[in-house]
Amino acid sequence: MALALAWAAKGMYLTAPNPRIGCVIVRDGVVIGAGHTQPAGQAHAEIQAMRDAAARGNDVRGATAYVTLEPCSHYGRTPPCSNALVQAGIGRVVAAMTDPNPLVAGRGLAQLEAAGIAVTSGVLAEQAYELNIGFFSRMRRGLPWVRLKVAASLDGATALADGESQWITGPEARLDGHAWRARAQAILTGIGTIKADDPQLNVRGIDTPLQPRRVIVDSRLEIALDARILQGEPCWIVAAAESPDKADALRAAGHEVIVLPNAHGKVDLPALMQELGRREINEVHVEAGAKLNASMVREACVDELLVYLAPSLIGPGQGMFDLPALARLADKRQLRFHDLARVGDDIRILARFAAPQTAIN
Ligand SMILES: NC(=O)c1ccc[n+]([C@@H]2O[C@H](COP(=O)([O-])OP(=O)(O)OC[C@H]3O[C@@H](n4cnc5c(N)ncnc54)[C@H](OP(=O)(O)O)[C@@H]3O)[C@@H](O)[C@H]2O)c1
Repeated sequence: MALALAWAAKGMYLTAPNPRIGCVIVRDGVVIGAGHTQPAGQAHAEIQAMRDAAARGNDVRGATAYVTLEPCSHYGRTPPCSNALVQAGIGRVVAAMTDPNPLVAGRGLAQLEAAGIAVTSGVLAEQAYELNIGFFSRMRRGLPWVRLKVAASLDGATALADGESQWITGPEARLDGHAWRARAQAILTGIGTIKADDPQLNVRGIDTPLQPRRVIVDSRLEIALDARILQGEPCWIVAAAESPDKADALRAAGHEVIVLPNAHGKVDLPALMQELGRREINEVHVEAGAKLNASMVREACVDELLVYLAPSLIGPGQGMFDLPALARLADKRQLRFHDLARVGDDIRILARFAAPQTAIN
């Protein structure tokens, strides 16, 4: 299964909105075929692994297929993998997890069992879950998994008071940040960051065939038409009101304007997360300033923080989250460290909210 997970990881940047799945077929302790999910509409991991076995002249009849998610049992963009495994005469299937997709949800394994195939599930389930955390989130909650990235000095500054922020962390951390961008299907930022930095917010330095969709929260459509982010692939610009001329100009340039107001004349962030889920975005990567970061946290739209800390002190500057002062320490927002790593000269922290959001009104 560990090998199947390694194959799944090879599909990291390829398979969205489908999950990244790997499959390894084994006979007598020898791997006779392996593969991972292809881009949406093309072959799933099981089919790839069986094709690999055939290409190598190996007979899969009676062999064991290790697959990082329950084989699908429905006609989606491709026919069911459960049928293909039965037809090929696979003897045993070991799955890391059952499929959270309500169209599958145990039916794939049940079909295999009904056809006389021995089935085991729940092997290295945690690793399999992490690899597809966004797909699981979307299937279970209708919401993407939202990861909010900040780069800060050791004393927590993300920019100088005048907005200068390039660069706080070193080249290794910045490249690592691009890998996290690449695994998301959307990168979310605010108009404040666009005005201050004029960023492109695309993936650079990572070999990926797909670029995440750039999503800009801009209540009053203030974005300049010559902003660098608008010069590449189409963006989704999320406003609180239509302002027709600007919206028309953005649409004429190929971008989409989405209007989602809240009661305060800003963008309704929980509604935006729902909309991104509907648009089959599995993982959202937030890279914004302290204002939008704080609103995202306050409105329970964030699942985890990806924090890079540089070994430097900046002094007064902009913080990570423009949150209101607390009257009682007991009201602090509690997270737990999920992963810690050293990246170049910097430290990377992955922290999750202790009580994850369950639903958004
Ligand atoms: N070090 C880092 O990791 C990092 C990453 C990104 C940015 N930055 C820095 O952050 C600074 C910009 O920060 P910022 O706080 O001014 O900009 P921001 O957080 O990127 O954008 C804030 C703007 O988003 C808009 N918005 C719309 N709906 C909102 C809602 N529901 N809640 C909150 N905001 C909403 C507001 O403007 P409207 O009401 O006009 O729409 C608000 O002013 C820059 O200096 C940049 O360099 C640092």
